[in-house]
This record gives sequence, structure tokens and C-alpha cells, in this order.
Amino acid sequence: MEYTNLGKSDLKVSVIGLGAWQAGAKGWGKIVDSDVKNAILTSIEMGLNFIDTAEVYGDGHSESVIGEVIKDIRDEIIIATKASGSHLKPEYLERALDGSLKRLNTNYIDLYQVHWPDIYISLKDTMKTLEKMANDGKIRYIGLSNFSICQIEEARSYLSNLDIVSNQVRYNIIQREIEEEMLPYLNREKISVIAYSPLAQGLLTFKYDYSNLEPSDVRKSNKLFSEQNIRLIAPFLSVLRDISLETGHSVVQLALNWLISRGNVIPIPGARNRDQATINLQSNGWRLSPEQNKKIEDKYLEIKDKLDTF
Ligand SMILES: NC(=O)c1ccc[n+]([C@@H]2O[C@H](COP(=O)([O-])OP(=O)(O)OC[C@H]3O[C@@H](n4cnc5c(N)ncnc54)[C@H](OP(=O)(O)O)[C@@H]3O)[C@@H](O)[C@H]2O)c1
Repeated sequence: MEYTNLGKSDLKVSVIGLGAWQAGAKGWGKIVDSDVKNAILTSIEMGLNFIDTAEVYGDGHSESVIGEVIKDIRDEIIIATKASGSHLKPEYLERALDGSLKRLNTNYIDLYQVHWPDIYISLKDTMKTLEKMANDGKIRYIGLSNFSICQIEEARSYLSNLDIVSNQVRYNIIQREIEEEMLPYLNREKISVIAYSPLAQGLLTFKYDYSNLEPSDVRKSNKLFSEQNIRLIAPFLSVLRDISLETGHSVVQLALNWLISRGNVIPIPGARNRDQATINLQSNGWRLSPEQNKKIEDKYLEIKDKLDTF
């Protein structure tokens, strides 16, 4: 397993993390706790040390499952959780953190992230509260999620001794809107990109389109799964499939490897069981050739402006 620093912090995280929205067991079809626990344990056995969760995932269930699994190895794992965007008032934030600490069976969070901004709440108050939590030793580092560059700059301006170490945003081989401005900014500022939906919520696995998703599945409201997009993406996926045959690595692994190769980008694929976790973690330790990367870029440019993904 390769490791990298999280932003300018001293935290050394595995270059792939584990996304634990699925561990919340809501919105992803039938999820079995014991399967998710096996996914977490297998990931750790394979060298993964970075797990991303949030208080909203399954209304705390994801954090509870993680808390149970890691209770005896707490200090070996870097836990990132998130305060919901509707809990950013200081008193709510404090309550949110206490809840997360309890469910995660720990007395500190390594990376505490603001899940999404709330423009109606004073960002200054939120950031000052987060800084106090860090000074009190309840959290080690502060991260953001779904923040724009302006919002990140504003958030940073309220911190006296600390800096933001990461922004968690959507990024995958077909949804690359952050490349224009966000990615160069984060690279320049040495703020890590934590890439969510790195497998385009499973679209890159060839398993789904709108017709075979349950009404309660979170992907039912993801525009990416529209018939039009699926048709557009098909030729791009077939290039990935060709390269996959050349390299012996699956399309899922190519897609994750492509993200890791950006540098400063840490993908956090969600996994529902041991098999998925194992496949995902085999996507580091090798690189695509320049010719293979060029084939991917050329095909991507053909579809880039036609995709409708928001
Ligand atoms: N900050 C935010 O606003 C935000 C938003 C979204 C996600 N996140 C975080 O990012 C994590 C990952 O994003 P995501 O869950 O949206 O999407 P994702 O990681 O792109 O896709 C996850 C889905 O892909 C499928 N999958 C994963 N590994 C596979 C494999 N090896 N083979 C076949 N299928 C595989 C599974 O689908 P099936 O379950 O159908 O098998 C899984 O549920 C989340 O768990 C969460 O921690 C954060």
C-alpha cells in the first residue's frame, strides 16, 4: 500500500480510503452489517488506514459500525467524519461532535469535516468552534466538503493557528468539473482532495442504469444514470475495457488508479463487502502507460461537453 500526507498535516493516510456511506445501510439497497464489517477488516488487513464516514450516513449507523470494528485498533486508523451542514451553529456542532465521538467509540476525531456549507449560518462562528475543538484535543484536523474556492478562502481566514487540510468533492474519471479551478487551487495550497463517488456511484462497474435501480436507491436521483448519459459514456467505457484487458486490471481498478495518479487526490470508494473492498485496494502500486493515459484522455474529450451530470 502506498501512503501520502493529508494536506500539510503529519497524518500519513493510505492513498485509497474507504467510503462508509454504504455502512449506514440506507439508500444503497440491502446492506448487511457483517458484510460491511468484513469490508472494513479486509481493507485494514490490506494496509488501508483511512475511513470516511458522516453523522448523516444511516443516521449514525455507519459511525456505530466503524466504532465497533476499530475499537481495539483505534490509534492505527485515521477516522474522518463529518458534521452535517444543518448542524453548523456552535451549539449544534458541539452536540454533533459528541454524538460522533460516542458512536465511533473514541475520544478524538482525526479529521472533522463540514459536510456542506450553510450560507445562512455564520461561517466565522463555525470555524472558531472547530478551532476550539482542535485546541481542546477533540479533533486533530479540520476538513471541508462541497465548499467552493471562495468559501474555503473565507473559512481559512477565520482560523488563527490551523489550516484546512482537505476539501472532499466529487471526482472521478468521467465527472471532472473540479479540474478547471478547484483542483489547481487545492494543489497550489497543498490541501488534499478527498475524491467522493470515485466509481461514479457504481456506474463504472457496468452494473446499473435507471431501469435496474430501486426507487429508494440514492442513485435514482443521480443524473449520471440517465439513458442519455449512459449512451454517451458507452464508447468511453469500452476504451477503459480495452485497456483493462491489456493491463489485467479491471475497469474499477483503472478508474481508481487514474485518480491516485493525479497526486494530491485520495479516492474513497464505498464498498458493501469484502470482495469489493479487495478489488478496490488492488488499484495502487502500479501506473498506466503514457499511451494508455492518452487513449483515455482523447476519448474523454469527445464526451466531456455532452455529459449532463448535475
Ligand atoms: N462529502 C459528500 O458530500 C459525499 C457524497 C457522496 C459520497 N461521499 C463519500 O464518498 C464515498 C464514496 O462515494 P459513493 O459511495 O457516492 O460512490 P462510489 O464509491 O463511486 O460507488 C460506490 C458503489 O460502487 C459499487 N462498487 C464499489 N466497489 C466495487 C467493486 N469493486 N466492484 C463492483 N462494484 C463496486 C458499489 O455498488 P453496489 O452497492 O450497488 O454494489 C458501491 O456501493 C461514500 O461512501 C462517502 O463516504 C461523500
